[in-house]
Amino acid sequence: MRRIFIINGPNLNMLGTRQPEIYGSDTLADIETDCREKAKQLNVEIDFFQSNHEGEIVTAIQQARGHFDAVIINPAAYSHTSVAIMDALLACDMKVVEVHLSNIHRREKFRRHSYVSMAADGVICGFGKQGYLLALEAAASFFK
Ligand code: DQA
Repeated sequence: MRRIFIINGPNLNMLGTRQPEIYGSDTLADIETDCREKAKQLNVEIDFFQSNHEGEIVTAIQQARGHFDAVIINPAAYSHTSVAIMDALLACDMKVVEVHLSNIHRREKFRRHSYVSMAADGVICGFGKQGYLLALEAAASFFK
């Protein structure tokens, strides 16, 4: 069975109460539940991870190498700043799907550039929670 690692960056643990007008009212736990349901339908195995720390995310990506087939990552604010996460993804030998709940291209100028996109096979943004499920479909489709 293919294995997909879903990584969530800083402040995504605050979903549910964090700017719901932008990010919706679902919690990260709600998103994980829906991802697990979708994974069953797609016949893939998932792990779900969140960290507020850049280095922990880099280490998680390094450790995933060889154990997972694909990474789905919402790097949150680190999308716009982190060469380290980009480099970790470039070195990980896994398919990479970047996801954002909001449409980062319709927001402040600083959100319109993502370093992580340079390491991503594809990017999904603007579809809220549904974006994670679309990302899972996209990741699973790499292995059909
Ligand atoms: C985000 C967009 C980022 O700009 C922001 O810093 C986040 C969440 C999103 O999912 O829309 O924390 O990645």
